Amino acid sequence: MLLLKGIRTKNRSFVRPLPPHRARISTAFDPSATLDPVLIELAPSILAADFAHLGDQVERATAGGASVIHVDVMDGHFVPNLTLGPPVVKSLRQATRLPLDCHLMIENPDLYIPEFADAGADWISVHQEACRHLNRTLNLIKQHECLAGVVINPATPVETLTEVFDIVDYVLVMSVNPGFGAQRFIPATLHKMKKLAEIRAARGYSYRIEVDGGIGMDTVAEVVRAGAEILVAGNAVFGKGDAKVNAQALLEAARSASLLRV
Ligand code: DX5
Ligand code: ZN
Repeated sequence: MLLLKGIRTKNRSFVRPLPPHRARISTAFDPSATLDPVLIELAPSILAADFAHLGDQVERATAGGASVIHVDVMDGHFVPNLTLGPPVVKSLRQATRLPLDCHLMIENPDLYIPEFADAGADWISVHQEACRHLNRTLNLIKQHECLAGVVINPATPVETLTEVFDIVDYVLVMSVNPGFGAQRFIPATLHKMKKLAEIRAARGYSYRIEVDGGIGMDTVAEVVRAGAEILVAGNAVFGKGDAKVNAQALLEAARSASLLRV
C-alpha cells in the first residue's frame, strides 16, 4: 500500500506501466496523445459492481483491458439517487493503479472537490447543469492536480460548453439521464459526440470525448463511430458473467468500430 502511494504522483506525468493486454494505452491522460484517433479506453462504472467484492471486480475488469475506473457519485439532490463518497475512493485508490474517474452528479461540487482529490481521484468531472460558476469549478479541479471534465445531460447542447473547451481535459456526453445504471441508451445523443469531435478538429482543442450510459455490445460501435473515445460501461461489464470477459468483448468491438471511422 505504501509502495503504491509512494510511486503515485497524481498528475499528468504519472506513468503507468503498459499492461501486456493493451497494445496502446494513454499514460496519465496526456492531452498531447488526444489527437490519436484510435485510442479507445474502457472505463467500467463500479456502480454496477458487487460492492462487497469491489477490489476483485476492478481487478477482473482490468485484466480484461479496462484502463480507467469510473466512479459515480450521486447526492440525492442533483440526481434522485445516492451512492458513495470519498471513503470509497480512498479504498479504491489502494486497490488499483488505474486512474479513478470521479463523475460528480452532485450540487455544489466545489465543496467536495478537494476531498475527492485528497482521497485519490485522478479525473474529476462536474455537470454543466450543476455549476453556476463552471470556469471556477474546472479550475478548482485543476488546482488539485486532477484532470478536469465537464458533463452534459441528454437535454444539454454542446454549445453550452463553448467557453470552456480550451480548459477542459475531457467532455462527458451522458447518453442516459443520470441517476441510475442499466438504462436504455438514447440515440439522439450521438450527434453531440460527432459535434465535439468536429469542433475539436476544426479549432484545435485537446479535450477527449467520453460517453456514459447504456453502453453495451449493442451500442458500443455506434458511439465509437460517432467519436467517443472513453467508454463508460457499468452493467455491460459487471452486470452478469465475468468482468474480464465482458471488458475484453467490449474493447474488441470498440476497436473494430474505430477502424471504420471516416
Ligand atoms: C448513470 C451513471 C453511469 C452508469 C452507467 O448516472 O453516470 O455511469 O453507471 O451504467 P450503465 O453502463 O449500466 O448504463
Ligand atoms: Zn457516470
